[in-house]
Amino acid sequence: MDKKTIIVTGGAGFIGSNFVYYMLKKYPNYRIVCLDSLTYAGNLSTLKKAMENENFRFVKADIRDAEAVDNLFTEEKPDIVVNFAAESHVDRSIEDPQIFLETNIMGPKVLMDACLNHKVSRYHQVSTDEVYGDLPLDRPDLFFTEKTNLHASSPYSASKASADLVTMAYHRTYGLPATISRCSNNYGPYHFPEKLIPLMIINALNDKKLPVYGDGLNVRDWLYVEDHCKAIDMIIHADCVGEVYNVGGHNEMANIDIVKLILKELGKPESLIEFVEDRKGHDRRYAIDPTKIREQLGWEPETKFENGIVKTIKWYLDHKDWWEEIISGDYKNYYKKMYEGEA
Ligand code: NAD
Ligand code: TYD
Repeated sequence: MDKKTIIVTGGAGFIGSNFVYYMLKKYPNYRIVCLDSLTYAGNLSTLKKAMENENFRFVKADIRDAEAVDNLFTEEKPDIVVNFAAESHVDRSIEDPQIFLETNIMGPKVLMDACLNHKVSRYHQVSTDEVYGDLPLDRPDLFFTEKTNLHASSPYSASKASADLVTMAYHRTYGLPATISRCSNNYGPYHFPEKLIPLMIINALNDKKLPVYGDGLNVRDWLYVEDHCKAIDMIIHADCVGEVYNVGGHNEMANIDIVKLILKELGKPESLIEFVEDRKGHDRRYAIDPTKIREQLGWEPETKFENGIVKTIKWYLDHKDWWEEIISGDYKNYYKKMYEGEA
């Protein structure tokens, strides 16, 4: 493989950091530059091992800061930009949409302008299946395809759908060589503790209640994070400018079944489960049809959920330092406000 420089934005977060490690391992001659503003969700300790690699550079900057972004592009002359940077938690977007619209829409705009100015050969926008809205529980025959209309439900998904539209507009209007991937829910190492799977693992380990929203029957389509990284790697190396790819492994599960599985794996009682008030506008079911990426690029998921979830639980058991530091900081206030009704 020719030597390439890839700017990975949001690389101190969950999926971005997994992507950094995936790429450093797979392409020992690539330069990987992480640009991240280190919001509450970004963690430098996550990138500790990457920092030891001479092909890796970390830069603290905001994707909305056009000057900082332009300076970095001038210095690094990237071949490819992969944008993971985003505000990513639906519940926070319901509490306060402002930062979601600013980061998730204006951030990509700044990055795409820089890509045009610096003639970057690929801009990849990491999107989500949530841009399609939701599917009913009683129609298991329905799946999201790339042709499904955008129909976002939360301020988070609306901001991601907007970014997708702006990306396609930059492609058509200015000829930006862009691609988009829309992946289902990821799980795996370095997943921030506010999200379902890590939250339930950590609460169970601490013998705290496991807060399940509504009836617990909402369905998500779970994919091991490395399989998502593999899909993005294939897309950015393929001759497919202007294309959108759905990414998912046909692994639909109801939230309550995931929670029970985690309790079983950890040998904790189901009495820890507590049904709590439902999320506002809660999407019922997500389910991806990955036919296009399989047929066009040969992508297949490698990790089965039953293995991936055991690996993930083990990772949280082995990396208590990582998450204990997070849950003892600002996160404590978020948790109290969100789950214990404290202002
Ligand atoms: P995350 O919240 O764990 O990480 C986001 C990262 O972006 C953090 O490191 C944060 O510091 C950084 N960031 C936020 N605002 C920034 C800004 N203005 N400038 C620079 N950096 C900024 O998110 P994640 O779960 O890893 O998701 C990454 C991307 O993948 C997001 O775009 C998300 O929409 C998308 N996605 C996530 C999932 C999922 O299941 N988590 C599924 C599909 C798509
Ligand atoms: P989440 O991890 O926030 O991902 P998303 O909403 O982006 O799919 O939530 C996954 C599912 O778990 C979703 O249906 C909401 C539900 N959930 C709970 O039941 N309790 C919780 O405490 C959280 C965080 C989520």
